[in-house]
Amino acid sequence: MQTIRLNNGVAMPMVGFGVFQMAPEVCERAVAEALEVGYRLIDTASSYKNERAVGAAIRRSGLPREALFVTSKAFVNEMGREATREACLRSLDNLGLDRLDLYLIHMPYGDVVGAWRAMEALLREGRVRAIGVSNFQGDRLLDLCQCAEIAPAVDQLELHPYYQRAGELALLAELGVRPQAWAPFAEGLGGLFDDPTLTAVAARHGRSAAQVALRWNLQRGVPVIPKSTHRARMAENLAVWDFALDEGEMARLAALDKGRPRLFDPRSPAEVRRIYGYLDNPVLTTLR
Ligand SMILES: NC(=O)c1ccc[n+]([C@@H]2O[C@H](COP(=O)([O-])OP(=O)(O)OC[C@H]3O[C@@H](n4cnc5c(N)ncnc54)[C@H](OP(=O)(O)O)[C@@H]3O)[C@@H](O)[C@H]2O)c1
Repeated sequence: MQTIRLNNGVAMPMVGFGVFQMAPEVCERAVAEALEVGYRLIDTASSYKNERAVGAAIRRSGLPREALFVTSKAFVNEMGREATREACLRSLDNLGLDRLDLYLIHMPYGDVVGAWRAMEALLREGRVRAIGVSNFQGDRLLDLCQCAEIAPAVDQLELHPYYQRAGELALLAELGVRPQAWAPFAEGLGGLFDDPTLTAVAARHGRSAAQVALRWNLQRGVPVIPKSTHRARMAENLAVWDFALDEGEMARLAALDKGRPRLFDPRSPAEVRRIYGYLDNPVLTTLR
């Protein structure tokens, strides 16, 4: 598995497996299959409510802990010096692990600085190997970097051919923060799997539009965490290392950028309401 070095020297797989919107029973089966197929990075979050299933699948796999890279995230109700520490220990307990490889602030809301202090302490104690953020746009990331004693290693962002964020990626590079692409297929929205450019480029290589979308992000140095509940697609999404897009093909994909989020705009008041409203979902009441 190809890896990329984070700013603290930790190696992170370039392709990982996302488990958002997977109910626990589906999740345990899917993660078990993903590990069989060859994934070594699993991306979960307390808000996904499937950390226990991820942990069960990891134990079932029999793989040594050092071979795996497990990410979880603190949600908006888990922000602050005390709350984030407790949230991390809860995630570790759910997963049945004594250490996370990457722990992220899920959203740029709430007591982010208090949360960051907790994360720095967790890193120093060895409870987590790397710390980072998610959905932090350039201004929020730069602001956090001003208060941080330990710089974030990763900013997990919506990044796909329809939302390419070249300017923000340049800022991340300047700050030494690695991007990681969530929803690398835009969850299929906008007809991504049938996109004429993606399918035409894919046909030239005898590949799928999905593989071209992943390969494009990887070639511009962006690790990806696609999700699938289908074993054949899990394998397809990993098979992206034995072909390469040429300069012209990269330029054709660059032209697909719509310059705005397809799934989540963290700055939109409606989205802030929606995210906090998520906590009112009865399924998630244990999060409070
Ligand atoms: N930090 C954040 O705020 C945040 C937000 C969203 C997501 N994430 C992370 O990023 C991961 C990926 O994002 P996502 O799950 O939202 O969306 P995604 O990976 O862009 O798309 C997943 C969708 O694509 C389909 N799919 C997967 N591979 C395919 C293929 N080869 N051909 C055709 N269809 C395919 C899946 O269907 P099937 O499952 O039916 O195969 C599913 O409907 C998440 O699981 C989560 O871990 C993080």
